[in-house]
Amino acid sequence: MDGNGRWAKARGLPRIEGHRRGVEAVREILSGCRELNIRYLTLYAFSAENWRRPAEEVDALMGLLVYFLRRELNELVRNKVRLHVIGQPGDLPDPVRAELERTMAATAHFTEWHLTLALSYGSRQEAAAAARSFAEAVARGEARPEECTWERLARHLYTRELPDPDLIIRTSGESRLSNFLMLQGAYSELYFSPVPWPDFSREHLREAAECFKRRERRYGLTGEQLRAAAS
Ligand code: FPP
Repeated sequence: MDGNGRWAKARGLPRIEGHRRGVEAVREILSGCRELNIRYLTLYAFSAENWRRPAEEVDALMGLLVYFLRRELNELVRNKVRLHVIGQPGDLPDPVRAELERTMAATAHFTEWHLTLALSYGSRQEAAAAARSFAEAVARGEARPEECTWERLARHLYTRELPDPDLIIRTSGESRLSNFLMLQGAYSELYFSPVPWPDFSREHLREAAECFKRRERRYGLTGEQLRAAAS
């Protein structure tokens, strides 16, 4: 969800105004996902590196998260959307953690639609945590080092209950992953939009989905092999 700050700056507004508009875009995209039958949406809302931003901006973002969760709870329940968190929620201030706990508990029984917030999240930190967790299983005698395949290690990632992303969208003209789902995204299609996040609408989402449908996902095979398997 990149470009909130630049969106605000271009209008002579404080950066936090961009984040506020960003929350409205989240709402719009949630309902766009529903229309397009996109059942898993993961939002990179706060990276492990974002703690280094000015305290005023960090506080404002934490406040917006609480505001969003309070405002959306009824809607999530009405639409049967389960909330997940990936990252290090333990780093977050108490009021944010409390709202997350409340929302996750209220939506834990839903199975069809999933909204995941990546909070205090970084792929490298996640990889290190997964390696630690596997090593602890080895130390307890529950696993052996030679059993450390990708499938086994993936059970120690924050995303163990979630499928790998099919499509990763980054807004606002930057073409980087910035420590987001780098292992899970090994075969994801990447889509870079020039539109800043506050202006990213369901129409932009639809365009991204259309573009995704035209991609050929080969997973290391040749195009001929894929077509032969499909026929
Ligand atoms: C990146 O834009 C955006 C963020 C670091 C925060 C995104 C957060 C929200 C949209 C609001 C809270 C989230 C939810 C799920 C309610 P940037 O500030 O880096 O933009 P810039 O690159 O133009 O400065």
